[in-house]
Amino acid sequence: MSDTTTLQADLLQAVAAASDEAALEAVRVGALGKKGSISALLATLGKMSPDERRTQGAAINAVKDAVTAALAERREVLRAAALDARLARETIDVTLPLRDPPAESGRIHPLSQVWDELSTIFADMGFSVAEGPDIETDDYNFTRLNFPEGHPAREMHDTFFFNPKEDGSRLLLRTHTSPVQVRTMLTQQPPIRVICPGRTYRIDSDATHTPQFHQVEGLVIDKESHLGHLKWILHEFCKAFFEVDNVNMRFRPSFFPFTEPSLEVDIQCRRDKGEIRFGEGEDWLEILGCGMVHPNVLRACDIDPEVYQGFAWGMGIDRIAMLKYGLPDLRALFEADGRWLDHYGFKPLEMPTLAGGLSS
Ligand code: DAH
Repeated sequence: MSDTTTLQADLLQAVAAASDEAALEAVRVGALGKKGSISALLATLGKMSPDERRTQGAAINAVKDAVTAALAERREVLRAAALDARLARETIDVTLPLRDPPAESGRIHPLSQVWDELSTIFADMGFSVAEGPDIETDDYNFTRLNFPEGHPAREMHDTFFFNPKEDGSRLLLRTHTSPVQVRTMLTQQPPIRVICPGRTYRIDSDATHTPQFHQVEGLVIDKESHLGHLKWILHEFCKAFFEVDNVNMRFRPSFFPFTEPSLEVDIQCRRDKGEIRFGEGEDWLEILGCGMVHPNVLRACDIDPEVYQGFAWGMGIDRIAMLKYGLPDLRALFEADGRWLDHYGFKPLEMPTLAGGLSS
């Protein structure tokens, strides 16, 4: 077998064996590139006699044509195979269900939901929202709210104190939202009508208490505001919040340093197989504390108790959220468990409104 015949057979075999386009290109360069085997043979033509050149030239060109044709054919085959493999790999199953967009799959935490519901209900009654810092002074959290130094009620608040400053004063994490009353009265002139939802802190942790919890405070100061108004507001609030036509309420005498008289409010309910129904039944559930703002508090906030009077209330947001939405364990509210939130959370685009329904 002549050299050219062997070369052609070897090259055609290499072309056939190339398993992808890169391998095929390597064969092409090895044969037809500048230093390729066919190019090397062609370079020998110059030194041959005219006769030899005629026969050898024809033979070498025949190899070149055969190899070029084989390369082109093999390239087509490999290209088609590569395309088939890619199409198989990138198959999209158009029958799969669509994944929910973020606005559909995200959930609003029940506490945020209840916070929005509260704000919606009280905004409708003409209240605005006031806020204050979580880190408070002893003065705003206690003293101006008529808790005298050394008064036992201070001890009952299980306060988180910061280390004392050089002058002996101590900052603290507010134990209730009542200091926002103080801040509001010091900066606004009556008539005042605010609610103050916010985070609160006490050293307490068990199935029904978490060290950080939430309260909403209400404050009304005007010339003739009285307990009758307070009762109406709370009654309307409970009906709207629990989404029932009637709620029976019970006002019991109580004590808070910052109100006189002070009252605690229970709502009537029936407990039935783990469910609570309001406006019926034999049970009473305490939901808030309230009263007429103590003249000492008005005075401490630069409001003349001879001219103005008013009432206030304070309520646990976590507690009313649990009651309304049947949340069995308070601690779950703080655990950031996505599965819990999927179950108990609310759709983000369904904002609570009085007209459209608070929680639908
Ligand atoms: N600050 C009270 C507490 O945390 C709750 C409270 C009771 C607030 C009566 C009030 C009120 O404004 O009038 O226990």
